[in-house]
Amino acid sequence: MSKKTYITTAIPYVNGTPHVGHAVDYLLADVYYKYCIERGIEVRFQAGTDEHGNKIYDKATSLGIPVKQYVKDNSERFRNFITKLGVEPTDFIRTTDPNHERRVQLIWQKITGHIYPSTYEGWYCSGCESFITDKEYEETNGVCPDHQKPYERLSEKNYYLRISDFKQQIKSAIESGEMQILPEFRKREVLKLLETSPDVSVSRPKKNLSWGIPVPGDTEQVMYVWVDALANYLTVLGYPEEDISDFWPADVQFVGKDILRFHAIIWPSILLALGLPLPKRILSHGHVLANGQKMSKSIGNVVDPTEIIDKYGLDPFRYFFLRHIDTFADSDFTWDKFNAAYSGELANDLGNLVQRLAVLSNKNSVSLNDNDTMEAKQIALDNPEYSKLMQNLEFSKAFDYIWSLVQDLNKEINDKQPWAVAKTNPETAKSILLELDKKLLTVTCLLAPFLPETTKKIFAIFGRTITIPSPLFPK
Ligand code: MSP
Repeated sequence: MSKKTYITTAIPYVNGTPHVGHAVDYLLADVYYKYCIERGIEVRFQAGTDEHGNKIYDKATSLGIPVKQYVKDNSERFRNFITKLGVEPTDFIRTTDPNHERRVQLIWQKITGHIYPSTYEGWYCSGCESFITDKEYEETNGVCPDHQKPYERLSEKNYYLRISDFKQQIKSAIESGEMQILPEFRKREVLKLLETSPDVSVSRPKKNLSWGIPVPGDTEQVMYVWVDALANYLTVLGYPEEDISDFWPADVQFVGKDILRFHAIIWPSILLALGLPLPKRILSHGHVLANGQKMSKSIGNVVDPTEIIDKYGLDPFRYFFLRHIDTFADSDFTWDKFNAAYSGELANDLGNLVQRLAVLSNKNSVSLNDNDTMEAKQIALDNPEYSKLMQNLEFSKAFDYIWSLVQDLNKEINDKQPWAVAKTNPETAKSILLELDKKLLTVTCLLAPFLPETTKKIFAIFGRTITIPSPLFPK
């Protein structure tokens, strides 16, 4: 792995409240971030908020709040949400930040060779803030599947980005793996979509979109929110005013499946127009469903992450969303599943393991010294199976793997019965416990990117001296 790495997350629109869906981007990126820094890699980890566009303007207006105040307050809510998730981005960008706005205008000026004005008529979804093709219109019976809203017929003067200039290059980059799209089935979807992708509108008339960044040199046009939003990945690094070659191309861009097409077609076109390399990997994660259904305010089934964290704590939340929400496919959240994971796995498997080993070690005066701790850490760093899964961004599988080790350890204690051995052969019992404690610390190191608070607790217990802990996950 290279010594400097850049990872990014999608920047949410600020007109909604943070929900569990938003947490997925952040958690996946954070696990990878923590994994990398543990290995001495310098990582820039971007997060931010997407603050322009009609939906946001209209919402602020309907609430009677000045739009600048509204976006500021809501951006802060996302920022606090990120902190509450235990996620630690190094950079946070707001698209209304003057640095971003100025840099986006400079970016626009650099790509004008691939931009042309035209009048367009087509089907538009105000929820996605994007036009769709006639074919998609037919396939969806004229209703946007993501927003459950009928598409509108719109005709207006726009500037267009000539996607056709880059299609071939994007196709070969995806096929050759220069820009990997994960998982494989999404890659195939993108390649298919690319074949029929039209040029895209990259501006809107000011009369239809006032809350956005003005197009340089045309007072009548405002940039399409997606150009403004996608550019954040570069402007946050200082581009084009600063040298970004240490961090660009990004190692991984984390996005939800609904916005993959913007990231895999429009975004690479902008980058190629700028003469910049394409991101190395785009990870498209699935959606969190609630009881098998898409979460929506109108159904009233939106799961509130704050409620879960406040009630159960941060690590149980991270545990469920990183292990039981598959990294790539859609997965279901239900309280039953959450409770089963909490008491059945966290408390029974890990909580009991820690408790048993701590009590036994204490009773038999076994404690790990610094060397033991270092050794345990090194074994974790060298674990090939874990490294492979983590480097391939298969986080839920990596978590399953760690859990298999937790279960193995439970089995090993049962098999070796150190409490029984201690009665006849205390020295042997001690060495069994020392080995088991070291193995637990190794597993804990593997867990560190996933469950940071638990890791700290276990380290506090086993790092040097051992005291009897209160159960980690009380039922
Ligand atoms: N503003 C755009 C992104 C611009 S990135 C240059 C946007 N915002 S969003 O608020 O609608 O979505 C933000 C992220 O949350 C996206 O990655 C999206 O896929 C993700 N999710 C929103 N709902 C989700 C679920 N129910 N489940 C998992 N992720 C989902 O799109």
